[in-house]
Order: sequence, then C-alpha cells, then structure tokens
Amino acid sequence: MSFTDGTYDGRYLFMNDKANTRVARVRCDVMKCDKIIEIPNAHDIHGMRLQKYPRTGYVFANGEHEGPLVNDGSVLDDPSQYVNIFTAIDGDTMEIAWQVIVSGNLDNTDCDYQGKYAFSTSYNSEMGMNLAEMTANEMDHVVIFNIKEIEKGIANGDYIELNGVKVIDGRKGKNKNYTRYVPIPNSPHGVNTAPDGKHVVINGKLSPTCSVIDVTKVDALFESNADPRSCVVAEPELGLGPLHTAYDGKGNAYTTLFLDSQIVKWNIDKAIRAYAGEDVDPIISKVDVHYQPGHNSTSMGETKEADGKWLISMNKFSKDRFLNVGPLKPENEQVIDISTDEMKVVHDGPTFAEPHDSIIVRADIVNPKRVWDRNDPMWEDARKQAEADGVDLEEGAEEPIRDKDDPRKVRVYMTSQAPTFSLEKFTVKEGDEVTIYITNLDDVDDVTHGFTLSNHGIAFEIAPQATASVTFTADRPGVHWFYCQWFCHALHMEMRGRMLVEPKGA
Ligand code: CUA
Repeated sequence: MSFTDGTYDGRYLFMNDKANTRVARVRCDVMKCDKIIEIPNAHDIHGMRLQKYPRTGYVFANGEHEGPLVNDGSVLDDPSQYVNIFTAIDGDTMEIAWQVIVSGNLDNTDCDYQGKYAFSTSYNSEMGMNLAEMTANEMDHVVIFNIKEIEKGIANGDYIELNGVKVIDGRKGKNKNYTRYVPIPNSPHGVNTAPDGKHVVINGKLSPTCSVIDVTKVDALFESNADPRSCVVAEPELGLGPLHTAYDGKGNAYTTLFLDSQIVKWNIDKAIRAYAGEDVDPIISKVDVHYQPGHNSTSMGETKEADGKWLISMNKFSKDRFLNVGPLKPENEQVIDISTDEMKVVHDGPTFAEPHDSIIVRADIVNPKRVWDRNDPMWEDARKQAEADGVDLEEGAEEPIRDKDDPRKVRVYMTSQAPTFSLEKFTVKEGDEVTIYITNLDDVDDVTHGFTLSNHGIAFEIAPQATASVTFTADRPGVHWFYCQWFCHALHMEMRGRMLVEPKGA
C-alpha cells in the first residue's frame, strides 16, 4: 500500500506480475485496478516495495532474470552481455521514472525511512546460467541504490534512452555513485526495513544468518568509499533457511525459517551487541509453523506504526494439516499472536498455491466508497464516446450506433435497473466489432448487476452508478442471450435480453 510519511495512506495498492513483467495499481477508494503497465528492458519483476518517505512516490521493482540490454535477437546465447534491471516507477502517473543496470539477479527489495536508499538482495551474483554456476560463490550481495545520486545522474544526462526509458549504469565495478554492492552470505532472499527507521535485515536463505544493515552507516559507503561491509552491524545465526523478517515495533524481529518450519523471534539490539563481542543471545523464542514458511507479515509491520499484535505466516506446504483434497493440497496461512514472548498459533487458513506476500493494514486507514460517483474518471473514455455519439449514458440508446468512419464498428448503449436491461434485444451483423456500454442506474448499496453474453467468453460486473463496457467481435450468427449473473432481485432470472446476429451476406 502507498505510503505518506512512513505509514500507509490508504490511496493505492500495487502488485507485480512476475510472469508478464508487469506492475498493476489498485485504487483503494473503489477497490479496482486502474492501471497495468509492462516494464520495458527488465525481465520478470520479482521483489517490489514502495517508497516510504516522504511518500509513494517511487514504486521500486526488481527485474529478476538477466538478458541482453537490447533484447531484439542481435544477442542470444552470450550471457557475458546479459544485464539485470532495477526500475523506479512513478506511483502517481504509473510511468517509468528511471532504470538502473545492475549485476546479479535481483530478488527482493525494500527502502529506508529517510527517502535516501533502496536495497535489493541479489542471488546469482555469479550471473551463471545453471544451478552449479549460480551457487558457486560463498558470498552474494545486496545492491544499495542512492536515490538522490541517480536522480542527479539522470538530470545530468548520464544515461542511455531505451524503449522510452532513461537507463543509468550502476553495475559492479563501474564505481559510479549510483550503487554500492555489500557482500552478504550465500543467496540472500528477503530484505525488510525495521520500523525503528534505522535497520534493514537481509535474510540469508542458504546461510543460517541474517545480516543487519545500519542505514546511518550507508552514507560513508558513498561519501568515503568505506568498506561495503562496514554498514553491517549484526549477523545473528537464527536457524536453517531464513527467508523473510517482520517486526513488532518494540525492537524485535520475526524471521521465517523455511527449512526448520519455524518462526524465530529475536531482538535486534541484542544481535548488534553479540556481533560486537558481548556474550548475549538475541533469540527470544521459536514457534513451529506448518510447514515451510516463506513471507510473513506483522500488523502494520512494514510501517513506522508497527503495533506488535499479529503475525501471518504464509506456509508453502500444508501436508497433513487439512483433509486430503487430492495431490494438489491447499497451502496454509497461519495467524500468530505475537503480543507475548512465547508466540501462539491461533488460526490455520487453507489457501491456494502458493501464498506469497501480504500486508496487514489497520482497518481505519482504508475507507472505500459505498456507491460509485457517476463522474468517476474510470469511465472517462465511455463518457467521451457517448458524447460523440450524442447519447446520454444514463438514458442509453434505442438502437446500436454504427461508427461513421469504420462501419464495422457498432456501439450499444444500455442501462440496467433491477430487474431489467433497457434493451430487450439488439441486432448486429456477423463480423461486427461490437462495444456494449452499460450504466447501472441503481444507487442502492450492493445492488450490483452483471452482464454475461453466452458463448462469447464475456461476463462483467456493473456496480451501483457505474458504467462498464466490453468490446468483442460478433462472429457467431444467430440468437444469443445475455443475462444478469448477480442475484439482484426476485425477478433476477428474468433480467435478460437477446443479441441477434445477422449472417454475412444477409
Ligand atoms: Cu440484475 Cu440479477
């Protein structure tokens, strides 16, 4: 969720689609996606987190897999020319602000509470192509991005422009002030900033340790080229397979142990003192989870308002925890009470494979509308088209309107009001590209209608006071029923109509 001044502001949710290198935004006032963008130059967005301060601001997105910088086929099987890409998206406009070329596969990312740095864990710092090559080194790294220096570099023209994006070179060994590479034990995965505003925990995965970075020691890495490891102030040994860390706002951290199937609660200050040589054990307690936890989230734990009440452990296996429902088992999300030193599992929740990242947001921060505003920007295009066609969206049109410039295009305007659509039928020709606009005139909370057109793969929702639309090709001559698929009224079954498609040449 978007931030203002270090805490959630209830404006937007952002999510990444690794399989399609895309990032989407959801408006929290209406709980609908209003933008989806494909990230150019990068491959497969994995970790994504938002600028906490002063606000979002930037959406930081890690390109996980490497590829040729210009991926047009001119370079193929020459991995020495492959690069990885870190992207900053402008969360207000959903345009790419800038990109940085880096070395090593980018895994997870987070940023500080000062608005100065972002951190990305990197496995495969070797940039190998197979398992043996990817795990050859004992140490990988975390990349630290200097946001002000990158902005300065862009302003000074130190970039190349690629697919409309300004791309800056922050690779290892370029010795520019855009990035620093801090060595971290084997294959670090999660990176999580503590609500104290000072510490960032890098989770070891193949190493039983977590590495704690003090953000106040990062300035020296850039200003005086200090030893990159000088910002690491603790490296507690926590257990096997540390993946992600969450916080309670009371100085404690909660790390998932994938191999041990446990959450370990540990104290950051004690870990720092132990690293400095004091004889003190940072581990407070461990609790079994079922099984193989990945991400975990605490209530408000990614903000400066972490409240120390709840933790959700997203477990990648449930094994015997639920009734067997076939070879593909549900996974398991467990809720844990973290208000005392001994953590208590209080709820199991079966979930689809696989539960990944989550956040826990205080309910008063999210205040969605109860009914849509008629003038919502979401259907600005529909309003403009209706105006051009001389149609009032709240009235609809008696007949389909054929486009003057492209006569294959036909527009149908309807309204819905329980239990009827304003048109009981409309006629188009086989091969027409049909756009149907429906405005729901009902303004009662929760009286949503649906529009399903049978055998055309079309079903959508029209919430109270909303306008929704679909465009398709009428490629099946004959009679096709459309109907409401939301049980909206005692006469809901009667809420239907016909699309009549005249065969070609008729
Ligand atoms: Cu409208 Cu069912």
